[in-house]
Amino acid sequence: MKLVNCYHETVTALHVGTEPTRCYYQPCTRSGEAESRLLSGCDWNFGYYSALEYVPEEFTRQWTAMEALYVPSCWQNKGFDRPQYINVRYPIPYDPPYVPDENPCGAYQRRLTLTGAEMQKEQYLYFEGVDSCFYLWINGQFAGYSQVSHSPSEFCITPYTHEGENLISVLVLKWCDGTYLEDQDKFRTSGIFRDVSLLLRPREHVKDYRVSTVLSGDTAQVRVELTALQGDPQVSCRLLGQGQTYEPEQAGQVFTFTVSHPALWSAENPALYTLEILTEQEKITQQVGIRQISWEEGILRLNGSPILLRGVNRHDSDPYTGAVVDREHVIRDLKLMKEANINAIRTSHYPNAPWFPELCNAYGFYLVAEADMEAHGTETLYEGDNNLVSDSEAFAPSIVDRVERCVRRDVNQPCILIWSLGNESGYGIGLERAAAWVKAYDPSRLTHYEHAHKAGPHADRKNLDMYSKMYPTTQSIDEYFADSTHALKPYVLCEYAHAMGNGPGDLEDYMQRMLAYPRFCGGFVWEWCDHGVYCGTTPEGKPIIHYGGDSGEDLHDGNFCVDGLVSVFREPHPSYWELKNVYRPIRVERDPDTGTILLHNLYAFTDLEGHMEVHASLCRNGDILEQWTVPAPSCKPGEKKPLSLELPQTAEPGTTLLLQYTALTDIGFGPREIGFDQFILAQPRIQLEDCDGSGVKMTEDLLSITLSGEDFAYTLSKRTGLFTSLLYRGREYLADAMEYSVFRAPTDNDRFLLETWRQVGFDRAYPKVYDWKWEEDGKVTFHMALTSNANRPILRMDVCWMADSDGRLRCDLQAQREKLLPELPRFGIVLPLGPDNRQVSYYGYGPHESYADKHRGAYLGKFSDTVDKLSFDYVKPQESGSRWGCCWAAVGAVTVRADKPFSFQASPYSVKTLTQTRHNYELPRSDRVYLHVDYAMSGVGSNSCGPELLEQYRIREQAMDWHFEITLNPAEE
Ligand code: GAL
Ligand code: MG
Repeated sequence: MKLVNCYHETVTALHVGTEPTRCYYQPCTRSGEAESRLLSGCDWNFGYYSALEYVPEEFTRQWTAMEALYVPSCWQNKGFDRPQYINVRYPIPYDPPYVPDENPCGAYQRRLTLTGAEMQKEQYLYFEGVDSCFYLWINGQFAGYSQVSHSPSEFCITPYTHEGENLISVLVLKWCDGTYLEDQDKFRTSGIFRDVSLLLRPREHVKDYRVSTVLSGDTAQVRVELTALQGDPQVSCRLLGQGQTYEPEQAGQVFTFTVSHPALWSAENPALYTLEILTEQEKITQQVGIRQISWEEGILRLNGSPILLRGVNRHDSDPYTGAVVDREHVIRDLKLMKEANINAIRTSHYPNAPWFPELCNAYGFYLVAEADMEAHGTETLYEGDNNLVSDSEAFAPSIVDRVERCVRRDVNQPCILIWSLGNESGYGIGLERAAAWVKAYDPSRLTHYEHAHKAGPHADRKNLDMYSKMYPTTQSIDEYFADSTHALKPYVLCEYAHAMGNGPGDLEDYMQRMLAYPRFCGGFVWEWCDHGVYCGTTPEGKPIIHYGGDSGEDLHDGNFCVDGLVSVFREPHPSYWELKNVYRPIRVERDPDTGTILLHNLYAFTDLEGHMEVHASLCRNGDILEQWTVPAPSCKPGEKKPLSLELPQTAEPGTTLLLQYTALTDIGFGPREIGFDQFILAQPRIQLEDCDGSGVKMTEDLLSITLSGEDFAYTLSKRTGLFTSLLYRGREYLADAMEYSVFRAPTDNDRFLLETWRQVGFDRAYPKVYDWKWEEDGKVTFHMALTSNANRPILRMDVCWMADSDGRLRCDLQAQREKLLPELPRFGIVLPLGPDNRQVSYYGYGPHESYADKHRGAYLGKFSDTVDKLSFDYVKPQESGSRWGCCWAAVGAVTVRADKPFSFQASPYSVKTLTQTRHNYELPRSDRVYLHVDYAMSGVGSNSCGPELLEQYRIREQAMDWHFEITLNPAEE
């Protein structure tokens, strides 16, 4: 077909025939029956065409034989077109306002039957979200056009309908001039992906209104202003809540309620009132949260109290339906977030469904509501300039439109504290005007926009209320606060801690700063969930999750979309537990002078007394000595109060105190297990026994040396200085030769180091033994190196292996790292064991995987597990499942103890297999257990998008001195 007007390539025609954007509500009759009829939630008649020319002309006027498609849906998730995941780059040529001629189209049709009574009403079609733009016809008559995928479009269709059967025809295009402003990092999907409803309203009605709340002392004023009316309806209002009904004072279109001693809304106690706006025939119901935001001196306050945003970035994302989510899906997310002490969400990078803020009002979340605005692809053009779109006169009205639509729709939602103008679009006049508009329209909230720092010296940032950064180093945060010339704006991290794969580390390092600097009002982890497309299961029943490139896209960004705290199915990643404890709103400290334990209340509104209790466990070497439950004393927000606990005066080595906080009440649907702290009252003492080799025999052949006793024969290779066989009581314990290991299956956060690691050959290191010596009975020493082709030796080592007559093995190792080489990913040995060595127990940081910079969701204790569950099954296979700070670990028949805390890991997969496999569902069956015993394992960081790993979490030492023992214990199998 041919369109009369190509609005989708015209930036001066953003919306045609649409109603002005209004706040979101669902009107009903006076008796409470819905006035809206859901037109989605069923199949529509649908035709997919790869370009406009192929769409049959008559589809606008008559029922056309096509296929069936469920609405709402993204057509790429229903077998049409194909999914494309791309991050920064534009998926189409940068040639605004034009888009490619091969512009996939969806032609949608639906019949609509209207009765005579319904014909007396005003009829509106309300589209909650259509990607990327659409043309609308009713009974063949053109009714309008709209764009801005994640904002609603409303059309009054009364002029086009008749009694009986009507035809709605919607033509959705994949690309439009709005595509240049919707370059968000996500799967690019298309279609009517949010609900569509028909509103049947009395001829005279309230179209738009504005609610605001002002607090003074113990009294609140709730102000309701009718800002747009259709006709001249008789309007009254009432406010219900806390068991009371309030009547307003009215002056013209303004209704004012006075509420004394109001229940104030916050994320900790999301107390809501209900406003009813009544006309003769209609009732509009609106949630009201009485609360006040302020940010004097750059300190973000709610109801006068400073608040900390413990946030995450959340996309609408589902493995089955893509960008289509329903309330159940969202509630599942919100509950999981509450469980993790998360209290704030940035709706990255577009408005969520219009009912999303209502759920946040009810569950208690602070929102940064972001407009559907990102022009990131301007940056990656050849000779790119990130301000191309944001600083363009042509695009300025589009930018303001997007921000206005976001703000006007949600202006009455109490959960929103901050308006975000968009993401990664550079800066310029479009955004400056948008900011000015927001400040004029809603001065009660803060404005946010991170890329403002991209602008030149003449940029106008006066309407931006926050200083926002993404992924800064902790050092740059310290520098920022050390510099007193900065304007006193709240400082926020709209993104930090890139949660891709195994990571992020350093969460606590950021939290320490949030707690230290009053103007640091919090941050939002990138990001809540992994994105991927569910593509069935393997024959073994493992889900097949596709990421970028798996659908044959030519431009894509691989697995950069798999970067969540939870999986596509919302299974918590280890990082979820890490974040949960870092975000805990209760902490303890020990008074260094008195030794008293002080409870620190980090809530903003909740007194701990009556709210929670502390479960204390005193342990020695992981065994519980004593347990108490102590109710929290009265402790107001911000206060520190002593906790009455009788602790032993002197602690024997290995004594720990674990304090776990349990909620007694459901405050704002918060978690039951809030979090924990642990004190190491006395470090564990790890003493290895001396190894007496008397009686151990030694034999030698060309390539090996064998140490043997009554029960054992252990064979050492003269080439590697490591065992090729561990024969104990007639059984072989090694499935393959032991190896040194300085490489790990690269995590996503290792991506920038990987090239260097490969260049210096960490991934293919092998030993060179210069000489070996039989020192005495049972004792062999190797003077050796770990080398790699084309490079200097990585390590020079003196290694002494000893066996005693019982078959216990001991290793004393001294290593010198080559100064000119980069830090090692790890240093240790690996023992390939048979598949029956599945049971694991250890005394170290568990129960989740733990690393030097990622062990705050873990504590020192004795844990049991199995090899299959020890590692996390990341969608892109990588290093996982290490346990940090271990004193001992037992994997199947092998027990290891070391003289200082070590890391260990046991996995069915070798480092090589994990490195080479692109998807978890492609991991082959394994008949091995690879036990890694690591002198050290590097931290994980968040360098996939964040800063380099902090120095203190790297393996920096030049000289390493390590002593450990290995015992074989068949009984443990
Ligand atoms: C940020 C961006 C996000 C996402 C993230 C990387 O720069 O705002 O949308 O792309 O990086 O995962
Ligand atoms: Mg981006």
